[in-house]
Amino acid sequence: MSSIDRAIDPEALKLFSFNIFSQLSGAVTAGMIHIGDQLGLYRTLAESDGMTSSEIAESGNLSERWVREWCANQVAARIVVAEFSYERHKGEGNIDINTRYKLTPEAVAVLANEEHPAFGMGMFHRLPATFDRLKDLPESFRTGLGFDYDAHGVEGAIGIERSFEPWSNAFLVNLVLPALAGMIEKLQDGITVVDVGCGAGSAVLLMAQHFPKSTFMGIDISEHALSRASEKLVVSQLTNVSFMNAKTTSLPKSSTVDFVTTFDCIHDMTHPQKMIKDIHEMLKSDGTWLLVDIKAGNTLADNVSKNPMAALMYGISVLSCMASALSDHNGEGLGTLGFPSQLAEEFSRDAGFTTFRQLDIAHSVNAFYEIQK
Ligand SMILES: C[S@@+](CC[C@H](N)C(=O)[O-])C[C@H]1O[C@@H](n2cnc3c(N)ncnc32)[C@H](O)[C@@H]1O
Repeated sequence: MSSIDRAIDPEALKLFSFNIFSQLSGAVTAGMIHIGDQLGLYRTLAESDGMTSSEIAESGNLSERWVREWCANQVAARIVVAEFSYERHKGEGNIDINTRYKLTPEAVAVLANEEHPAFGMGMFHRLPATFDRLKDLPESFRTGLGFDYDAHGVEGAIGIERSFEPWSNAFLVNLVLPALAGMIEKLQDGITVVDVGCGAGSAVLLMAQHFPKSTFMGIDISEHALSRASEKLVVSQLTNVSFMNAKTTSLPKSSTVDFVTTFDCIHDMTHPQKMIKDIHEMLKSDGTWLLVDIKAGNTLADNVSKNPMAALMYGISVLSCMASALSDHNGEGLGTLGFPSQLAEEFSRDAGFTTFRQLDIAHSVNAFYEIQK
């Protein structure tokens, strides 16, 4: 008997429908979070101790009615806190015209403070660009061919930058680099560093600023990300950094690099095993590779039972990470949760690396590894 012929349990039907529409609620509210970020509504709320919809609207030169409906969504989604105060208006019903809206300190960290490591607006920034790919996905499912990061446009690149920069700014130099044997001293003395899959260059520029005697190169294949990186390089006035496009320039020569970093990008690559071999090749005999990639279980069952964000991550994989990893016909297609530590160690040892150590660094999404020749 097929599933379509089996009897329906009315209670299970209600629960199932609730689950499905909860997913839609999340998707629609995610769009509202995007708007709140783009219009600076969270930043406005963060600077106050409670505002009415008219005050929020006035501060951004916006229409009050639209702001009030946005606030209603945010309160219903338990993102914004409300102190309710109604007024009855003839012909309009009860209006929240005097209701005051505010953010908790935790909400400010995630929604409005770009300096906070928990700042989370990057993925919401890139949401329209990410969802725009939905129109191409049916074709990708048919042909097997995905699209690279440039398919998400400039806003996609900025979204990635805003996703990773806050945590990196807070912890890369103070926590991650000191966890690598002797690395701070080497960087202070002056070494050659390459960041593969550098995106908009945030990590490279940060390290270059802290270690002026070392020389840094950021490598990517995204024109949008690399042009952001170049703009930021000009503003920084740093002279120990360069960026290059791996599509048009060859990777550094054999045994010329002391330290390679890869942040959240190996699982996006069409040929991760080749890239790991290339990293092994460019490193000197005592070189180190810092691999930062998504913390994943070895199986779907593992990820689904242990990772409350698994649905988000598998979805983002289809829209972005796996799509990138299948952006040429021979792509290996690892995807967001496709590069667990077991596979990372296997690929590293196959490439010739002899030591593989997971670092004791707590992160909600990423795992950190020190890998040596
Ligand atoms: C999720 S982003 C991470 C960017 C950056 N590391 C960061 O933390 O902000 C993944 C990056 O990998 C880049 N990428 C994908 N395949 C690549 C390849 N073969 N060589 C270099 N970069 C690649 C993409 O263009 C994208 O910028």
